[in-house]
Order: sequence, then C-alpha cells, then structure tokens
Amino acid sequence: MQELEYAKYEEIGNWDFSDIKYTVEQDSDWDFYKEIYKYSKPNSLILDLGTGGGEKALLKMPDVGMIIATDFSPKMIETANINKKKYPNKNIKFVTMDNLNMKFPNNLFDIITARHTIIDANQIFNCLSDKGILIIEGVDKYDCWELKELFNRGQAFNDKISISQKDYNDIKNAGFSEINMQEIIQYEYYETEDDLLALLLKTPILDDFSELNPFDNIHKNQFEKDLFNNYVSEHTTDKGIELKRVLYGIVAKK
Ligand SMILES: C[S@@+](CC[C@H](N)C(=O)[O-])C[C@H]1O[C@@H](n2cnc3c(N)ncnc32)[C@H](O)[C@@H]1O
Repeated sequence: MQELEYAKYEEIGNWDFSDIKYTVEQDSDWDFYKEIYKYSKPNSLILDLGTGGGEKALLKMPDVGMIIATDFSPKMIETANINKKKYPNKNIKFVTMDNLNMKFPNNLFDIITARHTIIDANQIFNCLSDKGILIIEGVDKYDCWELKELFNRGQAFNDKISISQKDYNDIKNAGFSEINMQEIIQYEYYETEDDLLALLLKTPILDDFSELNPFDNIHKNQFEKDLFNNYVSEHTTDKGIELKRVLYGIVAKK
C-alpha cells in the first residue's frame, strides 16, 4: 500500500471540488463517462476503482445492473455512503479495497473503470469477463508542467517514462487485445488565486504543497509564496488563471 497517499486521502475524506470556481475548455472529444455509457448495457456489472467519496460515480455513471465502487480509504467509503443517500435509486455498493490487492473472483465484471487512481492491469484483466472493457482516465506526467517546472517538483516530475505510457505497456503486457489511448488537453481557468490554491492544497499536483502551505507561515515559506504569485501573474487571462492539464484516456478490451 502507498502509506503517504493513504494518510493524505484519509485526512481529506472526499473528492468534492464543488467549492472551487473554475471553467474548463477541452481540446479533444474524449470523455470518460461517455465511454462508460457507450459500453454499458442495462444489466452490466461495473467496478469503479479508487472512487473517492463516490461523488462522480453517483452523479455520472449510467444506471446499470450494479456498480461496485471501491477505495482503499475507509474515510472515503464513509463519505460515499453518506453521499449515496442523495441517490436512493442508484444500484451502487461502496466497498473498502486496495486497487493493488483486489479481492474479486475472476471473470466477474463487464466493465472496470478507474479515474485518476492507481491500477494493476493484471488484476483488472483477471476480474474482467471475456471481452470485458477497461476504461481509464489518468493524469499524465506533463500535467500542469509549467507549474511543476517553476516549483521544480510535482507528480511524476522525475519519472523517466510517462504515466500514460506505463499504463499502456502494463495493459498490453497483461494480455488485453485492443487498446486505444487518447491524449486529452484541457485548459482550466480559476476565478481567483484562492481557487487555484484550493486545488493545489487538495490534489497531489505539487508534492508536499499542503505541508508547505505558503499562506500558513509567510516568512518560512516566502519562497513558495513568491513562486505561486509568479505563476498567477504570468498566467492570469481574461478567463481566469490558466492551468494547462494533460490527461489521457484508455479503452481496452480483454
Ligand atoms: C484523485 S482521487 C479520484 C477519485 C475519483 N475516481 C474521481 O475521479 O473523482 C484518487 C482516489 O483513489 C484512491 N486510491 C489511491 N490509491 C489507491 C489504492 N491503492 N487502492 C484503492 N484506492 C486508492 C484514493 O483514496 C482517492 O480516493
């Protein structure tokens, strides 16, 4: 298990960004939930890995036979069960489970989905039924790259191979027959610097940023604060503070 990540997600306890004000412009048509709709049937059994507080699974997944949604953080699953009360008719069950130690029988699920979370392609392959579909949206190495370069760190900053390429290779080696990968470029525009700061404090885009919250102790963290202000002043546009996101989508058939 990834202990540091686990502790951080336990502390956060939800994956709700509704308080952050921003707009999104996307270059590609690829959409994670549209892909799920495309492959779903009314009786499909879907597994959603690393579901967080179930915010997106509850709101955006199609109505199918059953959705099992898992997360390794019990706090996230607790939040998901609270959120579920707002969707009494959704056939969804939340379960605590590590994506790297999946406890399901072989050949069970019609579709397995994973958005912005770690996966083990071999375990997914085993749990999928024949011709089952894996649908992933991931955050790639070059996501928020200008920000990472400025801070000289961040998620996957020093990785030799991009996260998308690693996932692709792992999925291929696991034995999937058809694999389609798509780069997704998104421009996000944050209304204020507090909105951008809230994103950076909650997500792992910049490692340790929450611990080094530049607004906690101005003297100690003046350097970080200056870097943040630098980014804001260089990326402020009429639409808001621009953040270039680099994501990827993968659809693979067993
Ligand atoms: C970035 S959030 C994404 C949440 C949700 N999929 C979404 O798109 O809104 C990542 C989630 O993956 C979970 N996670 C990270 N590593 C995991 C693992 N090894 N097993 C299960 N869940 C994990 C975290 O607890 C967190 O809830």
